[in-house]
Amino acid sequence: MSDSFDLAAFPKGFSWGTSTAAYQIEGAVAEDGRSPSIWDTFSRTPGKIDNGDTGDVACDHYHRWREDIALMKELGTDTYRMSVAWPRVVPGGDGPVNDPGLDFYDRLVDGLLDAGITPSVTLYHWDLPQILQERGGWTVRETAEHLASYASVVATRLGDRVTRWATLNEPLCSAWIGHLEGRMAPGLTDLTAAVRASYHLLLGHGLSAQAVRAAAPGARIGLVTNHSPVVPASSRQEDVEAARRMDGHLNRWWLDPVYGRGFPADMRAHYGVELPMREGDLDIISTPLDWHGVNYYFPATVANDPTGPVPHAREVRLPDVPRTGMDWEIDAGGLETLLMRLTDDYGVRELYVTENGSAFPDTVGPDGTVHDPERIRYLEQHLAACARALRKGAPLTGYYAWSLLDNFEWSYGYAKRFGLIHVDYATQQRTVKSSGHWYADLISAHRAGGA
Ligand code: FCB
Repeated sequence: MSDSFDLAAFPKGFSWGTSTAAYQIEGAVAEDGRSPSIWDTFSRTPGKIDNGDTGDVACDHYHRWREDIALMKELGTDTYRMSVAWPRVVPGGDGPVNDPGLDFYDRLVDGLLDAGITPSVTLYHWDLPQILQERGGWTVRETAEHLASYASVVATRLGDRVTRWATLNEPLCSAWIGHLEGRMAPGLTDLTAAVRASYHLLLGHGLSAQAVRAAAPGARIGLVTNHSPVVPASSRQEDVEAARRMDGHLNRWWLDPVYGRGFPADMRAHYGVELPMREGDLDIISTPLDWHGVNYYFPATVANDPTGPVPHAREVRLPDVPRTGMDWEIDAGGLETLLMRLTDDYGVRELYVTENGSAFPDTVGPDGTVHDPERIRYLEQHLAACARALRKGAPLTGYYAWSLLDNFEWSYGYAKRFGLIHVDYATQQRTVKSSGHWYADLISAHRAGGA
């Protein structure tokens, strides 16, 4: 197992983890004072989620968190990436704090620490309080300010025990998929709204990074972004230019401002939407970070598409390439490319892979086991890519498999299973898949190697 790639490339103390998000696993959407989020609204809107699924119950983690921590212990992971649900902690979006909601995360953090697992807390994984959406959501500046107030509340309460913090998860998806493509909450298809949302998300990132630092002086703060390396579908000039635009849309728009380069001029011109920028904002957005988290799933091969939506570039479906159950192309080399780009081009000094994983239609066999060799292969290939990046000098300090559990996969509902642990949604029974056992063996082999 561990012979199949260069495990020795992973340094001593490397963090092995799993990742989840609040709305995807917690359930208990109306308990202990939680208010609705935009995902409650979106998932109740007919036609938006496959099979009409919602996160109402999900993995019932809100009640079963002790069992889930015990499962993490069984895997032997060092760390767990989770998110805090804003509508549990500040149900009004801004203003009074809901102690029972905060108490849940307090207990969860204590439980993790008792189990020897380091929490990595993401403050915003897409579950905006619905009440803020009604006031304009991410299209208005106040939402960025409210994020910072909420971040301060959480950091004040948990900052004595949590040191690894992320502000946002994948702002690209919130802005582009949520406001331009309409496939995620809040379900808009409006370029002006999308560009304004992207701006306020990044502003909210900077403001909340500062708020966490002020509330918890020992905090180490990062941002989690998702990326796809982009290659042109042909050497024709128009495809090369389309690839450049798609790279701007998926990658540079989210990294350049955070790393002090401002918003890319070519993309500003391409979107043609005035940014709601005030003096000093770029300094806030580029607040120095302690680490950067990369979520990687697939690369993009792109052709010109002058009549299609912004960025007038379309992804070409390559024939004869391996794919996951999401129909996502499997290309581990893309992860190495991204890690090296963040290292060499953006000068990031500490990196995590905060999400990486695959969905396959897993089933529990007659003997009660879940056999998922394709997921093992996927993990092996992507960890081999991490090892190559480490050998080339990428400052990679941890890897979080997406996901600990099968869960509510946004617009796909429960149909897509990403877990290292299978969940039977009728009974809430958890079963560690072969990939979970493989990951546990890998972690212990790494430790046994003196790490
Ligand atoms: C990412 C999300 C995560 C999960 C994976 C499959 O875009 O951050 O919540 O849904 O995709």
